[in-house]
Formats: sequence, structure tokens, C-alpha cells
Amino acid sequence: MFAHRLQKQQWFFYLLVFTVLLLSVAFTYTDKIEFALKKLFAVRKCKCNRCVSELNESAWFDKRYIPTMYPILTKNSFTLPEASYKWWQRLQSERKPSNYSSIMEELFKLFPGDDKLMDQGPNRCRTCAVIGNSGNLKGSNYGPSIDSNNLVMRMNRAQTTGYEADVGSKTTHHFMYPESAQNLAENVSLVLIPFKVLDIKWLISAFTAGNITRTYIPVMRHIKADKDKVLVYSPHFFKYVYDNWNEHHGRYSSTGMLVIVFALHVCDEVNVYGFGANSLGHWHHYWEKNAGGGAFRKTGVHDGDFEANVTKMLADVGKINLFKGT
Ligand code: C5P
Repeated sequence: MFAHRLQKQQWFFYLLVFTVLLLSVAFTYTDKIEFALKKLFAVRKCKCNRCVSELNESAWFDKRYIPTMYPILTKNSFTLPEASYKWWQRLQSERKPSNYSSIMEELFKLFPGDDKLMDQGPNRCRTCAVIGNSGNLKGSNYGPSIDSNNLVMRMNRAQTTGYEADVGSKTTHHFMYPESAQNLAENVSLVLIPFKVLDIKWLISAFTAGNITRTYIPVMRHIKADKDKVLVYSPHFFKYVYDNWNEHHGRYSSTGMLVIVFALHVCDEVNVYGFGANSLGHWHHYWEKNAGGGAFRKTGVHDGDFEANVTKMLADVGKINLFKGT
């Protein structure tokens, strides 16, 4: 009788431990469980992420994503909220910044400044590839998969010649700042990421008189790119990425992070390649032997580990497809 009661108490104890464990797992992995259940029961309507937004609902994502944020400065919308302007000015503090409004007016006399990318609707299914510069692309054979996207976004010193099998040959958008600039092929849209007013002045100069040859280091005097396709990344959007997505980790977001969030706002399906530090935590590149270069992981400029977690989380909640490479 006593033994029977003891057994019953033991069972109750095991049940209690099991329930506590189950609840703690459920609390820790709410997003993943929610996504897995939706995936199990939802009907996939089409292959685009946004077409299956029901499937990809995520409280984690919704807390960060502001659908009305527009990533590009346009002729009709370039004024910055004061807080964003001040934040941006502190990034690479210029001693005597030129007047922002007059530079913007000059900018849009030269470049179109329209908003062609913001044409979302229920029937749009724009697939995008965001290509980071990680050495994990080496030997990946991702080329054909990358080139099958409608838009292919590359950045900074990215190369394709000689690396086609791994990184593809198509580029529709190339993101850069003056210090990371390079000439582009025809039909590629240059997207300037400005860190200061001088960067916008440099863009104007690089397409005209070529009077700016230095920022904090020497920069290209002239650049070859399609003038009608030039876009300028919004400093207000830059701050949004840092506030909402980086949550103030690092001093500012990496180019890669800025482009992933850009893609989340203008694409319906986002495929991400070429992200990931090497085993030492260095941001190595696929075109060079720089295993010890770009050690951002432990510097305060970018927080590589935090960004890698954000990217992983975006993949876990089904907002991006992450191709991990070799
Ligand atoms: O080195 P770079 O800044 O030109 O690389 C572009 C972006 O690719 C980085 O900002 C970073 O987000 C990503 N990257 C990465 N892992 C690497 C190299 C680059 O995640 N090993």
C-alpha cells in the first residue's frame, strides 16, 4: 500500500518535471514552433515569401520590420527626420558638412531619383539574391542558383569574373560607398550607401568634374556606371536597420546587413549567399587569401556574431533562404 502510494507520487513528480521542461522549451523556441506548425498546416500558394505571408508570420519579425520604411532617397522624398540626420552626421563626423538640402537638389538634377522598386502588390513575385563577400562561397557552385533570381545584389569590392561557378555572373544592383567603389558593367544599378554628406558630393563629382579625390582616404575620381540607374540609400533607413535589426550592436550595421534589410523591403523572396566569418571569426573574402583580414568579430565597428544571429533568425522564421556555402 505504502509502496503503491510512493509509485504514484513518483509518477506525479515525473509528470511535473516533464511539463516544466516542455513549457520552457516552448517558451524558448516560440517562433520556431509557431513557424513549424504553420508550415505543417498552411497551403503554399506560391514560392514567394510575401505571397505566403500567412505562413511566415512571426512576432519576432513583426517587432522589427516597419513595412512603410523606404530604403531609397527620391526626388520627392529626401528630407530626413532630425534624429536620423544627427545620428548619421555622427557616423563619420565631418568638420564642415555641406548643406544637405542643396546637395540633394543638385543630386537629383543629375540622377533620376524615382522609386521604381516600390511596386509591391499581391501578384508581384520578385526573387532577389543578396550576395555577401564571404569566403564560404569558394567551391559552393551557387552560380546558377544566384543567377536565377530576378535581382542580384552585390556589394563593395565583389568580383564575378573568374568566380562565375560559385557566385554567378549576373548583377542588377551593386552597393558601395566612395572608399569601396569600383566601375560597374552596363545595366547595373549603382546604389550609394552614404556615411556622410561628402559621400553624396563625391557621387555627383564622380559623374561630372571629378574634383573630389579624397575623403578620409584617396577615392576614385571618376566612376563608370549607368547614370540613369543610380540610387542613394536613405540615411533614415540606415538608422532604422541599426536601431531595429542590429539593436545598437556594433557602431553601425555592416554593408551586408544593410543590403539584406533593403531586400526585405523591395523583394518578395530573399535568397542570401556569402555570409559567414571563417573559423577564426574573420570576414574573409572569396576572391582573396585574407584568412586573417577584416577581423570585425571582436572590433566595435560591426558586431559580426550578432548580425549572424539575426540572419539565422530571419531564416528560421522563413523570411529569407540562407545558403551557407562551404
Ligand atoms: O567585406 P565586405 O564588407 O565587403 O563584405 C560585404 C558583407 O558581407 C559584409 O558587410 C558582411 O555583412 C558580409 N560578410 C560576411 N562574412 C564574410 C565576409 C563578408 O558575412 N566572411
